[in-house]
Amino acid sequence: MDGSIGISNLEKVYGEGTERTKAIDDLSFDIDGGEFVSVVGPSGCGKSTLLYIIAGFLDITDGTVSVDGTPIDGPGTDRGVVFQDYALFPWRTVKENVLYGLEEAGVPDEEADATAQRFIDMMDLSGFENKYPKELSGGMKQRVALARTLAYDPKILLMDEPFGALDQPLRETLQDQLIDIWGDLDKTVVFITHDVEEAVYLSERVMIMTRHPGTKKTVTEVDLDRSGPREDIVTSDEFTRKKNEVWRSLREETKSEVQP
Ligand SMILES: Nc1ncnc2c1ncn2[C@@H]1O[C@H](COP(=O)(O)OP(=O)(O)O)[C@@H](O)[C@H]1O
Ligand SMILES: [Mg+2]
Repeated sequence: MDGSIGISNLEKVYGEGTERTKAIDDLSFDIDGGEFVSVVGPSGCGKSTLLYIIAGFLDITDGTVSVDGTPIDGPGTDRGVVFQDYALFPWRTVKENVLYGLEEAGVPDEEADATAQRFIDMMDLSGFENKYPKELSGGMKQRVALARTLAYDPKILLMDEPFGALDQPLRETLQDQLIDIWGDLDKTVVFITHDVEEAVYLSERVMIMTRHPGTKKTVTEVDLDRSGPREDIVTSDEFTRKKNEVWRSLREETKSEVQP
């Protein structure tokens, strides 16, 4: 599979009658296999809704959403979701959390164990295999969640503000790890964030959504060489230019929110 995502005339309405809320309105957007796309937009504009639709957790009201050209029909192991609040199993150790998806997929014990260990090592969690989530820092919990998702090798990574709860140095470390993973493992990544710098730093394209009900407003292409050190990237002309472009577009949406 190539991991492409096609979204066409997507509409999502929650509830009925007076409770009816249109969360997404006529959104069309195509993502190539192997692409890294970020989604930014005002709070409540439908970012999480969009991600959970792609994940197959939510039904759609109208339009189509496909993966590899096939309309999605529920969740699948071709897509892995990483949540802001980690969503680890508190009663399972680090190793057991990472093993979860492999057990579900019926991978034989020995192979599952080796795969889990590989991703634990990749996420710098060696030595913590037998700890429980409550014994870990936020950054470590998010690395466990990433290892758990990566272990069963989904082609598409769907991430909902995954680093939003972490302080800046940790965010930066995880951002750089994610760039390496993306490069090494050839994933399609859809990354939701409210942090414009994070979006521009990480992604090849940034989709800015309008305020509620959300639809695609603008798309900014970011052409950065990400092989060098962070300092070089964030001080480059391209980074500054694209950051300002995304900010401008986003600011228009948050401004119009407070006007009568
Ligand atoms: N389960 C739900 N039932 C009803 N309305 C919902 C539900 N989930 C989200 N919404 C509404 O849909 C809109 C988009 O929400 P959400 O996708 O969470 O936005 P974002 O992630 O951009 O902050 C909001 O107006 C929110 O109140
Ligand atoms: Mg959200």
